Amino acid sequence: MCGIFGIVTEQNQPLGKILVEAGQRLSYRGYDSIGCATIASDGRGTPAIDLRKDTGKIDEVNSRLNFEEMSGQRGIVQLRWATFGSPSQVNSQPHLDSDGDLVGAHNGNIVNNVSLREAFVKEGMTVRSSNDGESCVHAVERYYDQGCDMVESIRRAARTLQGDYAFVIGHQEGDTLHAIKQGSGLVVGIAEGATCVSSDLPSILPLTNKILRMYDGEIVTLWHDRVELRRVDDGTLIEREPEIFTEGMGAAEKGGYPHFMLKEIHEQPQVAAELIHWLDASPHVAPFLEALTSARRLYLVGCGTSYHACLVGAAYLSRLAGLGAVPVLAPQFTETMAHTLGPEDTIVFVSQSGETKDVLNALKAARRSEARILGVLNVIGATLMLASDHYLPLACGYEISVPATKTYLNQVVLFLYLADRLGRPGARIDWAQVPNLIAETLELTNEPARRVAEVLNPFDEMYYLGYGSTLGVALEGALKLKEITYAHCEGMLSSEFKHGPLSAVYDGYPVLFVTAPDDAAMMVNHVNEVACRGGRSIVVAGEDPLLRGNVMGEISESSMGESAHDYLLLPSAGHELTALLAVLPLQLISYHMSVARGIDPDFPRNLSKTLTVD
Ligand code: G6P
Repeated sequence: MCGIFGIVTEQNQPLGKILVEAGQRLSYRGYDSIGCATIASDGRGTPAIDLRKDTGKIDEVNSRLNFEEMSGQRGIVQLRWATFGSPSQVNSQPHLDSDGDLVGAHNGNIVNNVSLREAFVKEGMTVRSSNDGESCVHAVERYYDQGCDMVESIRRAARTLQGDYAFVIGHQEGDTLHAIKQGSGLVVGIAEGATCVSSDLPSILPLTNKILRMYDGEIVTLWHDRVELRRVDDGTLIEREPEIFTEGMGAAEKGGYPHFMLKEIHEQPQVAAELIHWLDASPHVAPFLEALTSARRLYLVGCGTSYHACLVGAAYLSRLAGLGAVPVLAPQFTETMAHTLGPEDTIVFVSQSGETKDVLNALKAARRSEARILGVLNVIGATLMLASDHYLPLACGYEISVPATKTYLNQVVLFLYLADRLGRPGARIDWAQVPNLIAETLELTNEPARRVAEVLNPFDEMYYLGYGSTLGVALEGALKLKEITYAHCEGMLSSEFKHGPLSAVYDGYPVLFVTAPDDAAMMVNHVNEVACRGGRSIVVAGEDPLLRGNVMGEISESSMGESAHDYLLLPSAGHELTALLAVLPLQLISYHMSVARGIDPDFPRNLSKTLTVD
């Protein structure tokens, strides 16, 4: 996830060290490129704007480009985490406008970047990169060159920029920086003799703990001794008092959450929104869809959490688009499918890291045929990306916690999006509502999930069962529990439970069921099989269909609500969206149980985020 930091001081002074340290404080967010710009007061430097940037890690790029010798009255540092477009020197940020008078950097995604760049070129501007951060600068340049002041130029530019972003920008004349928040994080710091703005707190706290919060649709102007907040829509001034932030650096990096896992769980509404906007505007979706629909045989391949997303994805493609996709674990694919492939086949490799060795082995085996290789990944520039014919990014930013949460959710969002695009137009998902439903589910289920965690905590083994679209969800919930609580939790198809594992059930033995509306009539039998043998059945589902008097009314004696000891209610949503939302309370159950057991959920024993070994 990109990070930006800008600082305004009273007069020209060495700023390089401050910028490097701010960059280091933002580096926990993950990055592939770094750049610094300084602006000398009133254009009196030679040159007024000093811009240095490249791909690589801070210390290494600093030793080559010597950021630390940079000086000025204002400074900007940006860490780029590529979402699309490979990391390169020219795509690194900050960026200049055509004449080199303006310099700026952004965090987020400008989803109409391609059409904006075409327009800028037609208007005679100098466009140097394909990075969307440069578009923010040119969008401001357009109005500044027409005679608008900086705030007015930014306000007008914002009307032309689509997506979720924040950016900071300065002109070589004057003594201010300006920043706008529109969907990505931005906070302001007010220090003695300086002000600063950043995508998050850790880069600001060493300078000051006097913090001014910003909300979407606001612009801030920074002078060395004051700041001014305005609304983007009508330009009116906003009065807001700064707060004193009293917590430490660790809390700041975690956004105030006690663990990265919890922070990343709560980032899910935002990353889903960003991915949906991105997919809506992306020219890369069409060739991906074509490769899915024209395939003779279609496989979805991954490991661990990513494989579970493949299971859900296969259900979506089947139900919505009538496409028969086979989800397979990567090593099993290598053994049983790779030898059978031909040029008409398509394989979608799904991997958060894009570096999992089991996945790359399967990819290598698939490459021996002429099958089409598609990639779905979070880390741009990863081996999987380079080896794919087409790829789509998950656009989640850096996921620090070992247990995957937001990357799994966006894998499922992506599959649902693709299936929906191929499905019947009349039955389309209401995508504008999806981020809200995710946020609502997190709020609605957090406390019940904590109580379920208390119920499960005394046990060291249990089952999570799903059916159809929720099989992958149950497996994912079980994996999360195993990863961070060290309890054994087996995930399986609910209809298989009676074929053996049912013998494990005794009075109070916990079995958790995940169900989506269309499977509820079947699932209620499976819940009853456990409940009537004394097991403790915990049901994660939307509103009890019986209570709503629909299909379940016909089998009223087997109401889900009556059989379940614990009913973890999800917001009302259709079948596919329920399968998407149901993972959220399972993430929360694992998190709460992990913490209750005194385990650090971010870094569980024996596990690694990226497994590059066989
Ligand atoms: C490791 C991680 C798992 C992850 C799996 C696949 O085992 O611990 O959490 O699901 O790799 O990772 P990938 O990067 O390919 O999605």
